[in-house]
Amino acid sequence: MIRARVVGTGNYLPEKILTNKDMEVLCDTTDEWIQQRTGIKQRHVAAPDEATSDLCTRAAENALKDAGIAAGDVDAVICCTLTPDYMFPSTGSVVQAKLGADNAAALDINAACSGFLYGLATANAYIQSGLYKTVVVTAGELVSNRIIYKNRDTGVLFGDGAGAVVLRAEEGERGVLSMYLGSDGKSADMLIMHKGGSKVPPKPDNVLDIFTIQMKGQELFKRAVVKFPEACQKAFDSTGLTIDDVALFVPHQANGRILEAAAQRMGLPTEKLYMNIDRVANIVAGSIPIALHHAREDGRIKDGDIVLLASFGAGVTWGSSLIRW
Ligand code: ACO
Repeated sequence: MIRARVVGTGNYLPEKILTNKDMEVLCDTTDEWIQQRTGIKQRHVAAPDEATSDLCTRAAENALKDAGIAAGDVDAVICCTLTPDYMFPSTGSVVQAKLGADNAAALDINAACSGFLYGLATANAYIQSGLYKTVVVTAGELVSNRIIYKNRDTGVLFGDGAGAVVLRAEEGERGVLSMYLGSDGKSADMLIMHKGGSKVPPKPDNVLDIFTIQMKGQELFKRAVVKFPEACQKAFDSTGLTIDDVALFVPHQANGRILEAAAQRMGLPTEKLYMNIDRVANIVAGSIPIALHHAREDGRIKDGDIVLLASFGAGVTWGSSLIRW
């Protein structure tokens, strides 16, 4: 059977770091509150001349280097982001050009925090259908130039950065074993940036608060704790694998307390839950691939391991995937 095998991973995190202590200057918060409520200690911040495409390109370059694959051999570039460079063209097209992936198709996917899993599912479908052999999924966000730091309820949560994977068509047992995606658009108002799109276009009287994020934090928290285990169960149901087969759980990193509660509900030992939220905060679509690469750098993923991915975020959307490494 042809599978989409992960043959390379890579990250790019901008050099500048904003610690929780730095956040104390920008809004009415404390290092203690942020760490206790979220697990975040710091977040990376892009340079003024960087755009999302720069972060996603650097991550993709690193993943291609890790895979030993030339950009010219890539068939498709999928860029997952909710902070694109432009309204159009797609950031995927910009990344394709910067990579020099001249033979590749390119597109964007916006599914907020589930963006990477939606991108992975698309790449997996391309590969399993036989349409493409080599696909780069790069996912990242540049939130720092739009986030309103004085809004402490959302300003402390997010960070900049990108992560990428290279997938290749291969015969055998290694690669993506399952994909499950879900959405409940009726709950869109749980986490939304209302203004700036076609519904409420930018106007002189709203331009100052255009980037205000409205978030029902506690409702999202409760829903996420239930949705992560439900999404993971779908992965087990479709493969016949169980939680005991999982070597490492690499979820979307929105809140350390959500992940610990979800892992407990799933009966997953804490040592199999991978978290890097302390280092990078919530990088929305970039969160899972960045965590995957960090997990590899930390020596937490070995060949043949079963790795479980899961997400929950704005939309609301969710998803899961099992991968044999
Ligand atoms: N610093 C200090 N105090 C704060 C801060 C802050 N940064 N933010 C809020 N507070 C205050 C509130 O005003 C409130 O004060 P009050 O009790 O006087 O009214 C108090 O802290 C508690 O606020 P809560 O919102 O109840 O805090 P909670 O423990 O729920 O934590 C958080 C908030 C971290 C946002 C949490 O609810 C959460 O992580 N929710 C889920 C977020 C999520 O999963 N989002 C989806 C993914 S993101 C995406 O898709 C783009």
